[in-house]
Amino acid sequence: MRLIAPIRRTIARFMFECRYGLDTSNSVELASLDSAADEHKNYIPSSWGTMRRIAQLRPIGTDDVFVDFGSGKGRMVFLAAQHPFKRVVGVEISRVLHEIAEANVSRNRPRLRCKDIQLVCEDVLRFSVPDDMTFGYFFNPFTGETFKRVVEKIRASWQAHPRQITIVYTNPIMHEHLARQHWLRVLEHDPTCVGIYETVGLQESSVTHPPRRILRGADSPTRELGS
Ligand SMILES: C[S@@+](CC[C@H](N)C(=O)[O-])C[C@H]1O[C@@H](n2cnc3c(N)ncnc32)[C@H](O)[C@@H]1O
Repeated sequence: MRLIAPIRRTIARFMFECRYGLDTSNSVELASLDSAADEHKNYIPSSWGTMRRIAQLRPIGTDDVFVDFGSGKGRMVFLAAQHPFKRVVGVEISRVLHEIAEANVSRNRPRLRCKDIQLVCEDVLRFSVPDDMTFGYFFNPFTGETFKRVVEKIRASWQAHPRQITIVYTNPIMHEHLARQHWLRVLEHDPTCVGIYETVGLQESSVTHPPRRILRGADSPTRELGS
């Protein structure tokens, strides 16, 4: 009996991919691709429910811009583009994965709510964080210096154009680095699941004490992120 639920879920996901002509499910080891580097992580897609949970964090409006840092085969780009974002951007280092993402998106463009979808094939270190980005998404795409430099780019963009930015980080290996940022507050942190962060007001960011943390318990609506 306990086997029935996972089997049903697998069948439902398979049918969903078939319906939209998507190819996002199979994981890929980066060593087998064109982009292997120590700080880069393998391709594993986010769970299908992730975007639904993100949409529960705050209302998504037509001024919002979503960026998936390390967008892989484009599952999150596809899911985000079902919401009324002004723009959805995916940046992916592997050309092989990027081309799969392009095929996934182009098959579905007419039926996606967001019409401005940009897939960029480049190393995030070369990518300019858009000054209107309001949602940044990471599914443990890279660690170490790469992660820190991307966080610094987000900070610089926010400082030049102050705005509310929500960062959702599935499998938050680099949580401690984000928790140390005075310009961010930790809304939620479950080390095995997700970290959620939000920019503070500009004045608040100059205060040197650590950011306020709101830790939510096991009934958190985002617990299933990335599962
Ligand atoms: C765990 S997968 C997540 C895929 C997608 N975001 C999702 O949630 O379904 C991480 C992705 O980050 C990409 N990646 C790793 N290092 C990168 C870098 N330096 N620049 C851009 N993408 C990178 C990998 O190729 C991989 O596709």
